[in-house]
Amino acid sequence: MTDNSENKQSKLFALSKTLVPGGVHSPVRSFKGLHTTPRFFERAEGAYIYDVDGKQYVDFCMSFGPLILGHRNPKVEEALHEGLTRGWSYGACEPYSLELAQFLISKLPHVEQLRFVNSGTEAVMTALRLARGVTGKNKIIKFNGCYHGHVDSMLIKAGSGLAGTAEASSAGVPDGVAQDTLILELGDIEGIKKCFLDHKDQIAAIIIEPLPANNGLLIQPIEFLKFLREVCDKNKALLIFDEVISGFRVAFGGMAELTGITPDIVTLGKIIGGGLPVGAIGASRFIMEHLAPIGKVYQAGTLSANPLAMVGGLATLKQMTPESYKIIEVQTEKIVNLLTSWMQHFNNGQFSMFKVIHFSSLFWIVPSLEVKKLADIPANLTENFNKLFEVLLDRGIYLAPNAYEVGFVSLAHTDEVIRDMEHRLEHRIQ
Ligand SMILES: Cc1ncc(COP(=O)(O)O)c(C=O)c1O
Repeated sequence: MTDNSENKQSKLFALSKTLVPGGVHSPVRSFKGLHTTPRFFERAEGAYIYDVDGKQYVDFCMSFGPLILGHRNPKVEEALHEGLTRGWSYGACEPYSLELAQFLISKLPHVEQLRFVNSGTEAVMTALRLARGVTGKNKIIKFNGCYHGHVDSMLIKAGSGLAGTAEASSAGVPDGVAQDTLILELGDIEGIKKCFLDHKDQIAAIIIEPLPANNGLLIQPIEFLKFLREVCDKNKALLIFDEVISGFRVAFGGMAELTGITPDIVTLGKIIGGGLPVGAIGASRFIMEHLAPIGKVYQAGTLSANPLAMVGGLATLKQMTPESYKIIEVQTEKIVNLLTSWMQHFNNGQFSMFKVIHFSSLFWIVPSLEVKKLADIPANLTENFNKLFEVLLDRGIYLAPNAYEVGFVSLAHTDEVIRDMEHRLEHRIQ
């Protein structure tokens, strides 16, 4: 339903705009540039999500990643119900976070201790402070095209000066903060070497999404990630893998497991809370004990390790097996093939410029399979994607409403759902 002049959600959006800036609680939900208003969803089940006007969609946004089992997985729901009967916040020690911590640590050889926070942004903020506290240095290398939440020092874009110089990409970020972030292009090995020479003994850490998945899917060669490990070791800097998306999505141990590269600090979020607010920082005991109350790096949180998020996360992760990762990859391939074939044929090839890059259970619709850094992304991507998005929305297939977001496949995207997609698209791969 793209004509939303009189429906419930257009009324809700009008109301929302009076109450909330832009009508949304996070900018990517805003449907900016689209010819229709944001869908307001009231319930979800498995691979499906339902808007307030009763329309059903196959969901590939999946809350931007946490729901690897799909919506309302019965065992997660049961664990949450049970949790509710015990109380939902104590602000004190409890056993539930220990169970989740034990589970996570058992799957992450590079993590001896971890601390739970409430979001990926908070995890990154703490990881950066921790890296600075451990090394006694201030500067952080970040890559253009990687997103690490809305921490001041990460809302930075490449400056117009020398390689590595940076300026704020958001109003409200002080120049002083921007100066401690050094921006480089993904894959720019020479730039990184030079940066370490130019800022000798000042770089605390390199932070990277080892599978950059916030400006499309910018899959990096393993050699580049290995180089980052080496250059950090050589310069006594820490390597931070931001695995908020990739952790427990591409494998239990995220990209660290798939590449065999050991980061010094890992940040996690999304899947480890099963769809409830969560984040975590993990590292060796030596690094983690720099945090208060033992160490001098301060970090705290009223709702940290919220018991519901802990049981939701554990009930999710306990259902994942090595086999689940294989299944979800196979389902992703089927979905990618269906979308690719449909895009070639639909409306005399209206979307035939698009290909689909995929990795594990993530996919990204883009005109070229050779996109490795931000500068490789075609300038007219949004314009073409928006048309595609609206056609799919009309047919009851919901992608994240932005060309730079990836699609998330869950274990609830079964063959039956794929057959349903074929009906919705009126297309079948022969
Ligand atoms: C890699 C990465 N880091 C950090 C964040 C921030 O997480 P949150 O939105 O939970 O603050 C995100 C969010 O998408 C992310 O993808």
